[in-house]
Amino acid sequence: MRAVLCKELGMPDGLVLEEVPGLVPDTGQVLISVQACGVNFPDTLIIQGKYQFKPDLPFSPGGEVAGVVKKLGPDVHSLKVGDRVIAFSTWGGFAEELVVDQSRTVMISDKMDFERASAFILTYGTSYHALKDRALLRAGETLLVLGASGGVGIAAIQLGKALGATVIAAASNAEKLSVCKQNGADHLINYSENDLRQSVKEITQGRGVDVVYDPVGGSFSEKALRDMSWGGRFLVVGFASGEILSLIHI
Ligand SMILES: NC(=O)c1ccc[n+]([C@@H]2O[C@H](COP(=O)([O-])OP(=O)(O)OC[C@H]3O[C@@H](n4cnc5c(N)ncnc54)[C@H](OP(=O)(O)O)[C@@H]3O)[C@@H](O)[C@H]2O)c1
Repeated sequence: MRAVLCKELGMPDGLVLEEVPGLVPDTGQVLISVQACGVNFPDTLIIQGKYQFKPDLPFSPGGEVAGVVKKLGPDVHSLKVGDRVIAFSTWGGFAEELVVDQSRTVMISDKMDFERASAFILTYGTSYHALKDRALLRAGETLLVLGASGGVGIAAIQLGKALGATVIAAASNAEKLSVCKQNGADHLINYSENDLRQSVKEITQGRGVDVVYDPVGGSFSEKALRDMSWGGRFLVVGFASGEILSLIHI
């Protein structure tokens, strides 16, 4: 089969496409014929050796795929050949085939196309868990999303609206904010041009927000933390800026 390989740690232009031996599913595993693979922020980290998982070289990046079950290993009872699934593998997805444990698959309906399915788990799964399970976001509350035009940010806007919240999207330019608007954001803040704290104050009439969703880190985190109302919840989702928020100095 063909696979995109990371043979040396570095940037995406160092990846190569090569013929590699086929894979065989072990006990509890399934072989998936990959139809589409999502591209996410962690893919850019794992190929540089900067992610929390560091596979041995060479490896294929690609953390989530959608495809069809092609072969079953021993002791697989929850899936059958031909099932359409999403598989979450952390790496290995940029290839024609992928082997994963059956527990790392989710069946998808015939109505969900492979491209959509392959970009579903990491962004929507993360944002759903963050907003629903951790922040307990409720209808009528106000949600501030930083880096709101990015992968997890867009999912947070859509899910925040679906949960009945008022959503404030913050991003660094007008083009990105227009994407946020198209995805349902109620209020927009260009945090490159406007002071985040002052803008939130104006939008919430001094009350602050109930939940902050922060996939960016860096200088806006502290401002957003101070933007919260009494009883607010702050979701630390990621550090796309490369800078981790330190609460010690606040
Ligand atoms: N905790 C989890 O389970 C989980 C799951 C998925 C992703 N994540 C993490 O969440 C973060 C965002 O992921 P994503 O998929 O939304 O990424 P993305 O689509 O690339 O979006 C990241 C956003 O961060 C902002 N940003 C600020 N400084 C940046 C920089 N130096 N480089 C790149 N972006 C920068 C940008 O928005 P502006 O220009 O508008 O500021 C950008 O749109 C990553 O750190 C990722 O690892 C965490």
